Amino acid sequence: MKFFIDSANLDEIRQAAEMGLLDGVTTNPSLAAKESAPYEEILTEICNVVEGPVSAEVISTDAPGMLKEADRLIKIAENIVIKIPTIPEGLKAISTLSGNGIMTNATLVFQPLQALMVAKAGATFVSPFVGRLDDIGTDGMDLINQIVTIYSNYGLETEVLVASVRHPMHVVQAAMLGADVVTMPFKVISTLMKHPLTDSGLEKFIADFKNAGKG
Ligand code: G3P
Repeated sequence: MKFFIDSANLDEIRQAAEMGLLDGVTTNPSLAAKESAPYEEILTEICNVVEGPVSAEVISTDAPGMLKEADRLIKIAENIVIKIPTIPEGLKAISTLSGNGIMTNATLVFQPLQALMVAKAGATFVSPFVGRLDDIGTDGMDLINQIVTIYSNYGLETEVLVASVRHPMHVVQAAMLGADVVTMPFKVISTLMKHPLTDSGLEKFIADFKNAGKG
């Protein structure tokens, strides 16, 4: 399973990259708005740090507008992925971009037929938002299960990119279901290696070794 960071913050992205396990980055307008630099500058910097796919989201809601934005964004770097909202106009833009060999990420996916449609249109990634489904009293992971099954039934190559991840159990569940990618905020990435029994066990090993030969 690939690990992406869901952030537009360069410090977080650098720290995650230093762990050596960062396969890509996803950004969105809300994440970009938290930073002080203009979006395209941030994306340029991110692409200097990360070789894997970097999702850059359009804000137009009509296909021609999305394609115009995509034209600018793809000039930033070869690893830019155009992130497109999963609406009918977005489907048109995904078809055009994928027909031109440009990587796309269909975002804001909340039900399985949206995922089937964008895969048929040739999207590189599909981004179901599990946390936001959990927020309204449903189980976001049911959607991942449905999408993984549908894509497997028809040999669809779009990669399932689990988004809106809020805690480490989302990552475990995504891995159990065979999702291709999980994109996580930095605070979730930081917890992936943690267990209190590892820390207390290590502390005891070190203390015991220091006392060796004194018994
Ligand atoms: O990648 C999508 C993600 O940023 C949305 O997360 O926590 O705002 O639902 P959240």
